[in-house]
Amino acid sequence: MINGKKVLFSGMQATGNLTLGNYLGAMKNWVTLSDEYECFYSVVDMHSITIRQDPSTLRQRARKLLMIYIAAGLDPEKNCLYYQSHVSGHAELAWILNCFTYMGELNRMTQFKDKAAKHADNINAGLFTYPVLMAADILLYQADVVPVGVDQMQHLELTRDIAQRFNGIYGDVFTIPEAYVGKVGAKIMSLQDPSRKMSKSDENPNASIYLMDDPDTVMRKCKRAVTDSEGQILYREEQPGIHNLIDIYSACTGKTPEETVKEFDKKGYGEFKMAVGEAVNSVLKPLQEHYAQLEKDKAYIDRIIKENAQKAEYVATKTLRKVQHKVGFPDRIR
Ligand code: TRP
Repeated sequence: MINGKKVLFSGMQATGNLTLGNYLGAMKNWVTLSDEYECFYSVVDMHSITIRQDPSTLRQRARKLLMIYIAAGLDPEKNCLYYQSHVSGHAELAWILNCFTYMGELNRMTQFKDKAAKHADNINAGLFTYPVLMAADILLYQADVVPVGVDQMQHLELTRDIAQRFNGIYGDVFTIPEAYVGKVGAKIMSLQDPSRKMSKSDENPNASIYLMDDPDTVMRKCKRAVTDSEGQILYREEQPGIHNLIDIYSACTGKTPEETVKEFDKKGYGEFKMAVGEAVNSVLKPLQEHYAQLEKDKAYIDRIIKENAQKAEYVATKTLRKVQHKVGFPDRIR
């Protein structure tokens, strides 16, 4: 508990261009959660270097992501928006937790297997212990809830196991975090292959709508979205392309899929796709405008970065000192 509220932690990597999927699936919900919880939203740049990065690109993208957090509606005075690398406790706790995590557990992580297969030339130890750093992120802030997508569930389960193991030995040190499973975010699929998730690392630019796409580009991508030859706008698994467009339209307009189906009853795909494009643009417009404003105010963003890192550091250090004492490190002399 901080300020009488439960604590929420989540993070996102600054690799690739953020997509509409990232916004509708995650960030939009983060905004709604920020009143109820004391929120820490990190730009997890330390996780990013498990894959080789170009330094200046990573730095630029990290700053952009932080500004997108704000542009998407996260108030940086209320939410702690910060870079993971600015709080050294993440690395320090990760080391300790490494010593409480088994090789066998990490070997079972499906994301490691996928990434190792994809980056066979660079299977580094960081990639292997990635979930331990993630556990440190969460446990450092004594988070009660962690909103994550299904692809991160296994990592969250491991986090809980590590925390329980540690508490079992040393007493109640860590809060055991729960996955946030309230109103789950819309799962947005690729516009070109609706069996796959819309991804910022997709090679086909037509597959994803990027948050910074201009209105014409958005419209063009929506018009080109892969559908089917059924000719009916129905919300069912047999029509994955249309299903996805209904999800996008509904998430952007706040309607339910059923309402959307009713609205487009007997209408053609062409007309529906235009409406989807317009709905997306009406969501992106304010976000892009806010972002453009923030980009001009370097001093403001710098202040946010500095102050939020200090705030995060304060909370993190409290946990870290406790953990260091528990495992037997000598106390600091003051
Ligand atoms: N691994 C997460 C992802 O790729 C990002 C992340 C890092 C995270 N640390 C976290 C998410 C802690 C939730 C909590 O999506």
